[in-house]
Amino acid sequence: MDVVQQLLQWQQAHSSKALYCVIGDPIKQSKSPLMLNRAFEECSIDATYGAFQVAPDQLPQFVQAVRELGILGMNVTIPHKLHVMELIDEIDADALNLGAVNTVVNRNGRLIGYNTDGIGYVRSLKEEAVANITNKKIVVVGAGGAARGIIYALLQENPSSIYVINRTVAKAKELVASLQSNVPLLAAGQAELEQLCNDADIVINTTSVGMYPHPDETPIAGHWMKFGAVASDLIYNPLKTQFLLEAEQHGCIAHGGLGMFIYQGAFAFEYWTGQTAPVEAMRETVLAVLQ
Ligand code: ATR
Repeated sequence: MDVVQQLLQWQQAHSSKALYCVIGDPIKQSKSPLMLNRAFEECSIDATYGAFQVAPDQLPQFVQAVRELGILGMNVTIPHKLHVMELIDEIDADALNLGAVNTVVNRNGRLIGYNTDGIGYVRSLKEEAVANITNKKIVVVGAGGAARGIIYALLQENPSSIYVINRTVAKAKELVASLQSNVPLLAAGQAELEQLCNDADIVINTTSVGMYPHPDETPIAGHWMKFGAVASDLIYNPLKTQFLLEAEQHGCIAHGGLGMFIYQGAFAFEYWTGQTAPVEAMRETVLAVLQ
């Protein structure tokens, strides 16, 4: 059955409830339905959150159906975060600047796009590892889409500097040149990684190095870090990467990637409902399936 038909049937089967969904391709692995349905339940909101596998060529019809069927909100994941921007009615300034949308709010048939990935990461970093990022020296390893989102959000916190280090230096340079800020934002290559880590207050891995099924790999040796610094990884499978384990043994504070996932969902929940997200219940639900 066509995915637009699936959405219609799902909407008809749950027509008394407020409806939300996530779209991606693939989507089967997504923990968002579990996490958001728990959040609605915890807050006694009569809502249902479903997952739909939408191929790129089905995206325009699907988005139109979301608008017309009154689906109140949608999360957007790989590979639709860029293309969805052309299909909605309004884009929040930050999402527009960073060039990706992962959350859509349906206000009376007007679809408004936001990006909660970067702000979700920063909220998680502040609540779980370091309360104040202002004046901190930050090193970000990797220069892909994930790095861009979190650097954009980190710049709003006025750190003392951000170094972007990438295997392909040209990509780091390009990323740095595309973001405007009063904060010193600099690009470097792998050769400078050890020395820059040694001097940093916060080192963030945004690459996939160390992710399941290669948990023994690490892009950064723990002993390169300054004692007491924060080691942060966007990976949440495993919950604690080799980088974080080594850094922790070296006297650093470890911050894993699960929090970013939880808080990007928490911000989406808050944009949709206007209520504070039940973050601990959401975390408990996701942890239960990951462990
Ligand atoms: P995402 O959108 O999730 O950030 P991406 O755009 O593919 O994914 O970016 C992945 C990042 O991880 C890139 O910066 C990539 O480096 P290159 O630009 O040199 O490709 C980095 N990366 C991936 N595998 C890596 C590896 N084995 N060693 C070092 N960096 C790696």
